[in-house]
Amino acid sequence: MNKKSGILTYDIEKVLVEEKDIIKRIKDLGRQITEDYAGKDLLMVSLLKGSVIFLSDLVRSIDLPLEFAFLTITNYSRGTKPLIRPKVGERSLDDIEGRDVILVEDILDTGNTIAYAQQWIARKNPASFETAVFCSKKKQRSSEIREPKYVGFTVPDRFVVGYGLDYAEKYRNLPLVGILRDVQ
Ligand code: IMP
Ligand code: MG
Repeated sequence: MNKKSGILTYDIEKVLVEEKDIIKRIKDLGRQITEDYAGKDLLMVSLLKGSVIFLSDLVRSIDLPLEFAFLTITNYSRGTKPLIRPKVGERSLDDIEGRDVILVEDILDTGNTIAYAQQWIARKNPASFETAVFCSKKKQRSSEIREPKYVGFTVPDRFVVGYGLDYAEKYRNLPLVGILRDVQ
């Protein structure tokens, strides 16, 4: 990787997780999922857009005939009350019933997004249901969630970008995880 690239020089205050460590950790998670889901009917449901980069590396580390689908959770703000409403992005999500589902998310922060997505999936009666997150912030959650079985990295309670995680839709393409300068 070019260490003199503009993003790393000017926009990132600190690198938290290097690319080589991400690759290694995702291969480990993939091996674990391969063992856990042997003989099962695995459907991975990825929350757009943040988890697509994690998903695309994770599925290639899993040696099973799995399927994946996408779910969009849109956060609408109405006054001071945020309203979360799911927008289903794929027809294959109709087939959750009876499947062995892993929800794939980029980052666990307050837990609100995952709590909502977990409730939405659980209502569709999967045969089994677990959650995988690329990063989990070390903090008190404001929402009750089923704890993710698969966690890539635990990160400090700071705003992080890269590897799918964005700031105002930018920096998702950064192949590492870093803390953005001047944001907190
Ligand atoms: P939660 O609902 O508070 O758990 O936040 C989860 C969502 O907020 C994630 O899907 C991310 O899109 C976004 N988010 C939370 N923390 C960060 C961060 O540090 N960087 C980038 N996005 C974040
Ligand atoms: Mg997101």
